[in-house]
Amino acid sequence: MENQNEKIYAMPRIGDPAPEFKAVTTQGPIHFPSDYKGNWVILFSHPADFTPVCTSEFMTFAVLEDKFAEVNCKLVGLSIDGLYSHIAWLRTIKEKIQYKGMKDVEVKFPLIEDITMEVANKYGMVQPGESETKAVRAVFFIDPKGVIRTIIYYPLSLGRNFDELYRVVVALQAADAFGVAMPADWRPGDDVIVPTAGSCGVAKERMESKDEMKCYDWFFCTKPLAEEKVWSKLKKK
Ligand code: BEZ
Repeated sequence: MENQNEKIYAMPRIGDPAPEFKAVTTQGPIHFPSDYKGNWVILFSHPADFTPVCTSEFMTFAVLEDKFAEVNCKLVGLSIDGLYSHIAWLRTIKEKIQYKGMKDVEVKFPLIEDITMEVANKYGMVQPGESETKAVRAVFFIDPKGVIRTIIYYPLSLGRNFDELYRVVVALQAADAFGVAMPADWRPGDDVIVPTAGSCGVAKERMESKDEMKCYDWFFCTKPLAEEKVWSKLKKK
């Protein structure tokens, strides 16, 4: 029989408001997402403290924290471990681990304790086919209004691609700021996609226009967006 105390949560989806929670973290209590209003935030889970892939990821997140902060994006981690385990693991990382040129790495962003799995379950971070007791490597990109904008999941055995995490934050912000969409593998400086024209007349005009817009067909037009323009809009002064 199903445990009557077990709450069933729907998986949050892109476009949903980020589920609310209060939690204890290595940087004190947080109320999510309201404490992060006005900022982008990456909420991510890792399977367990004191494990190697997670250690490589935490060191990388910590080293990149300032780079994410420059584009107004904060980091919040979570695993199904207690606060004292988190503290001991982060201290070990700082005091003992040298990896790929990274050493003396201090994790300054909050790491949520979630021994009850309450937050992990709310966010669909526990995926029983992979593990019933550990969170997968989930990454939720949440915008300044508290809306989930992108979700990426990785399994236990595969560390995240940090170039991609940063690319997602920059691309989402640039798409919002300039009212465009981003093509495959977009990076700042690449052409962007102009939203599809609403009428045949507009589409025809576009196809024939001699300005900087380039149309491959009526439904597929791009235009340049200079790299400096992207960074001057996104980077905090
Ligand atoms: C790791 O981070 O190395 C790891 C964690 C849980 C299961 C497998 C690997």
